[in-house]
Amino acid sequence: MKILTIVGARPQFVKAAVLSRTISGHKNIKEVIVHTGQHFDENMSEVFFREMHIPKPDYNLQINSLSHGAMTGRMIEKIEDVIIKESPDVVVVFGDTNSTIAGALAAKKLHVKIAHVEAGLRSYNMNMPEEVNRVLTDRISDYLFCPTDAAVKNLQKEGFEYFDNMIYCVGDVMFDAANFYSKKSSEQSTVISQLGLDAFALCTIHRAENSDNPKRLSAIFKALNQINDSIPVVTPLHPRTRKKAEKLLIKPEFKIIEPVGYFDIIEMLKHSKVVLTDSGGLQKEAFFFGKPCITLRDETEWVELVEHGFNELTGANVNKIVKAFNNLTGKNLDFNVKLYGDGNAGEKIIDTLFLDFS
Ligand code: UD1
Repeated sequence: MKILTIVGARPQFVKAAVLSRTISGHKNIKEVIVHTGQHFDENMSEVFFREMHIPKPDYNLQINSLSHGAMTGRMIEKIEDVIIKESPDVVVVFGDTNSTIAGALAAKKLHVKIAHVEAGLRSYNMNMPEEVNRVLTDRISDYLFCPTDAAVKNLQKEGFEYFDNMIYCVGDVMFDAANFYSKKSSEQSTVISQLGLDAFALCTIHRAENSDNPKRLSAIFKALNQINDSIPVVTPLHPRTRKKAEKLLIKPEFKIIEPVGYFDIIEMLKHSKVVLTDSGGLQKEAFFFGKPCITLRDETEWVELVEHGFNELTGANVNKIVKAFNNLTGKNLDFNVKLYGDGNAGEKIIDTLFLDFS
């Protein structure tokens, strides 16, 4: 059996690491990895391959820093060439990026089966490029591997049961990754001693809705400056946001560092008191490591975290962010609840595919 894996952006490297490790235990599965090149810096891409022992991509398409249409279009064209050459049984795509939809579209038009890992998530905000990517990818995928029951329900509500696909609730591959790499990260990461901080608030901002909107980004910075008076705020900043932040009138009084690798982010999570983020992945990782999370968005796909009180949605509203910070850091939350499966999502996915294609 041959699997063609499409990756391109940071969160996909973490998810692909889980599947690649599972595949490496199967002598009858061959994996071909395509990196679209969407993320390309050492600390946005290479560090993940190195730390997590993801096999070197067989193809690097080097497509990045383009408009959505140009980026997606060129990816489709190049991925199509690879699919024709490699003739895989199934193409695996992850999450909701431009690389995801490009891989899925290229495969579909060639009648190659598609497996979507992290299917069924919805923000119900069609202004987000990620929402467009995930809805359309789900619609044309043959295998919909959902991380949560809520994701399965979303697909059912949209009538996916009547479409030609298979829906599986397998748990979250990011939970598998957090479990597997937690020990390694504490052995190998030196980020905490480098920072010289014992306790801090960990923040990340990269969504277009925040980084590309000066009003929202200024409000978030204002709130972070206020929180920084109570506890140091450390922000590994995505290159997109860094470029935009330089143009803002409001100056950050909190600590901004370069984006960090997976092991460093895990260690930073472990030592943080609270997480503030607009990242989907980090919201869950905060939960995996028992930290409350303030989500700097108006909606989230990870609704179960909000329902359980681990996560508060504040948008980019200064007062709401500061209030959520005071509220969540004053609480004694019990994180001992199972929301993202048993830590074996990777095995369930590969076993399902192997059964069908061998
Ligand atoms: C993308 C995904 C988003 C995902 C995020 C994870 C889409 C539409 N968005 O957003 O779903 O959550 O990745 O980080 O696919 N850049 C660099 N160096 C890099 C990568 C990017 O400088 O290694 C710059 C690009 O040149 C560009 C900007 O950052 O100017 C944005 O990159 P892009 O790939 O368009 O989207 P992300 O914001 O990273």
